[in-house]
Amino acid sequence: MSRDAVPPPVRLGDYRPPDWLVDTVHLDVRLHPSAARIVARLTMRPNPAGRAGSPIVLDGDELSLKAITLDGVPLAGTAYVVTPTALTLLAPPQRPLTLEIETVVNPSANTKLMGLYRSSGTYCTQCEAEGFRRITYFPDRPDVLAVYTTRIEAEREEAPVLLGNGNPVESGAVEGTSRHYAVWHDPWPKPCYLFALVGGRLDRITEDFVTATGKKVALGIYVEPGKTERAGYAMDALKRSMRWDEEVFGCEYDLDVFNIVAVADFNMGAMENKGLNIFNDKYVLASPQTATDADYANIEAIIAHEYFHNWTGNRITCRDWFQLCLKEGLTVFRDQEFSADARSRPVKRISDVRLLKGHQFPEDAGPLAHPVRPDSYREINNFYTATVYEKGAEVVRMLKTLLGEEGFRAGMDLYLDRHDGDAATVEDFLTCFADANGVDLTQFALWYAQSGTPQVTVSGSWDAAARSYRLDVVQTLPPTPGQSEKQPMLIPLAVGLVGPDGQDLPLTLDDGSNAERGVLLVTQPRQSFVFRDIAQRPVPSLNRGFSAPVKLSSDMSTADLLFLARHDSDPFNRFDAAQTIALGHLVEATAAARAGADLPAPDALVAALGATLDDGTLDPAFVAQALSIPSETDVAREIGEDVDPDAIHFARTTLRQAVSAALAPALEAAYIRHAPSGAYSPEAASAGQRALRNTCLDLLAAGGTAESLARAQAHFETADNMTDRFFALSLLAHAAPQAREAALAAFHERFRDDPLVVDKWMALQAQIAEPQALERVRGLTHHAAFAWSNPNRVRALIGSFAGLNPTQFHRIDGAGHELVADAVIDIDGRNPQLAARLLAAFKSWRSLEPVRRASAEAALRRVADKPGLSPDVTDIVGRSLG
Ligand code: TRP
Ligand code: ZN
Repeated sequence: MSRDAVPPPVRLGDYRPPDWLVDTVHLDVRLHPSAARIVARLTMRPNPAGRAGSPIVLDGDELSLKAITLDGVPLAGTAYVVTPTALTLLAPPQRPLTLEIETVVNPSANTKLMGLYRSSGTYCTQCEAEGFRRITYFPDRPDVLAVYTTRIEAEREEAPVLLGNGNPVESGAVEGTSRHYAVWHDPWPKPCYLFALVGGRLDRITEDFVTATGKKVALGIYVEPGKTERAGYAMDALKRSMRWDEEVFGCEYDLDVFNIVAVADFNMGAMENKGLNIFNDKYVLASPQTATDADYANIEAIIAHEYFHNWTGNRITCRDWFQLCLKEGLTVFRDQEFSADARSRPVKRISDVRLLKGHQFPEDAGPLAHPVRPDSYREINNFYTATVYEKGAEVVRMLKTLLGEEGFRAGMDLYLDRHDGDAATVEDFLTCFADANGVDLTQFALWYAQSGTPQVTVSGSWDAAARSYRLDVVQTLPPTPGQSEKQPMLIPLAVGLVGPDGQDLPLTLDDGSNAERGVLLVTQPRQSFVFRDIAQRPVPSLNRGFSAPVKLSSDMSTADLLFLARHDSDPFNRFDAAQTIALGHLVEATAAARAGADLPAPDALVAALGATLDDGTLDPAFVAQALSIPSETDVAREIGEDVDPDAIHFARTTLRQAVSAALAPALEAAYIRHAPSGAYSPEAASAGQRALRNTCLDLLAAGGTAESLARAQAHFETADNMTDRFFALSLLAHAAPQAREAALAAFHERFRDDPLVVDKWMALQAQIAEPQALERVRGLTHHAAFAWSNPNRVRALIGSFAGLNPTQFHRIDGAGHELVADAVIDIDGRNPQLAARLLAAFKSWRSLEPVRRASAEAALRRVADKPGLSPDVTDIVGRSLG
């Protein structure tokens, strides 16, 4: 598409209700590898809230139109216009009518994986956000809700399993043919993005679930033949999710069946189609031999996430795609809470915040920054982002922090009741919380509208004579794309004052009020809070539990941070205090490395980590998190500008060596103490033991001693599960070049027939911080197991290189940037969504030092100058350079 042909952006302010509504959809789909035929019968009527006398405009994309009738009569060629993006009935009668439209699509040629496509021979669909228009002509927008009946017909040989939304109605043979059919009916009105069907040769596992009110639901998980024994954990997670949503939110399931299908080719993690969730198989299939503890945790979270969408997303959907966070932020919040209840709440919070800081903070600090609710977009697929999902979840969490457990639940109850069946907005959502609690959320709503991570600077002072303690708080909001003037936010800042004995002091503000639940309401650009009856100098614990998604800086001394790392009753801040010490050290050490000076000694950090390691009362999973040294990306983000990834890598490697040397005996003792007892189990306590043991092994190996590497080798060879085996493999690959090739080869030999495990093997090699990584990645693109058409393969190899290997992606010779730019250009011709996501790896390019910045810019410009780019890549490259 040439530059001047780029369509204008879609704007939130331009929203208009649809002119025509669809009440019912009857789809008759005959599956065929290259020519699937779809007959859609739509009952439509003019929308009283729309513009009277309107034409009927139906979206379409890569469809071949075969026939069209209105109330059973073929339409004259002059009555409608077909373009590549729409079918328009110019002057339809302004009354209820029935359209019947026949289209043909080619599922095998559908490499975008949007609409109806084939994955390893299985027919499946993906309609969110705008894929339904690739199946039939339709008003493809989330505020058009209809009741769907789907008849699917296929060769019995090719597709013995036929699944649709809702409940099964009937099935049978097509007389006189080798085909069969199934009819599904979904009684719940839904937008077309929730439509799905599946046809293929699949094995399944089934179980029954009885809901709170005693209704029986038949659960099914469908997987590639021979893989059913790997679906058990997903089934277990599903049943637990269903129960949890009843108990915690009062949400009960609403159909007779609930099916999940795992497919190998999928653009994202999973999709919440009504009654028929479709998953990337990576987030369904697990066995102790093939999946790590992290894989199990992801499966549990994503199964829950998609299931929870049944209420937050499906029963209440979005009015338009600007409201995406209405379902995604809320549903991420819900899945986080589920995992927190199922596992360790503090450890879950720590890993969620690490994800937020690792992905969302950089997004919010770069050219791709956008509000949780964007106000314009060129390509909606590019807004399934960490900001919409993760920051969106933080905003819901803040609402809970502000209103308290009961106030939040009251708001949720009202929302679920008032808006059931609606296509709702963020305003609708907030109004429920305001109404249920009698509060004004006007200022809070800015969290949805203003992009950028607020900077909160706090300084504390104790007044011995007045026996009071004052916190001075300043909030500043950085300029972000399209937003220079900003208003102060409402920031719920959870705080504690920790006395010299490590106990929290009672908090009474000088006006006599209690800081309710320990939460200060910061509403002004600068604000002071004075606590009274503070007889001794306390240490402030700020933003406890990461109560607000802000960048916090304070005048706290290292000694105070060390104190918090040992004594804070808030586990998140106990973790964070040590991280803050480590980050401070790494920033300083990086500067020293660049200046060619001696690196500082990490005494404070060693003391903090040593104390954590020695504290026998702590949860092993927590200790594992607390011992982890911030990543190179964490350090780059903290430095923020003129970033030199090699200097960061050197500083971090040196730090790890020093920690290793200083703590070796304690690490060794912990490694032995946490040796496994009994058979592998994926549950949290057992995973926590492994996490701690492996973290100790990692820090030991960072010392590079022959003894520690021998231990890693033994760990690799004797592992009886993927968590330990893969962890040891990555240690050897990173820290023991002499052992690397043999270990990689042995691992590949063992798992060569298992694509999801081969992905791990590729991802690991893409992350090695050595110049050869580039050639290795290039070589692996020619490996028999690699396929540019499969998103999991591409993300494992190219995505890991771009996202997790900063020194090599940002090589000073520019070859890393080139490799990724070339891959993006190549992939764009096949799968624009995947290409655009990969390109977003350049999001922090402006913070690099000048030489690398220039090379990143050149790579981006080379992409931008390619003719025929997709709208997806055009949008990302345009904003990245803009
Ligand atoms: N709605 C899905 C979820 O968050 C994600 C999703 C959006 C998706 N667009 C997609 C999945 C395209 C696959 C392909 O649960
Ligand atoms: Zn979702």
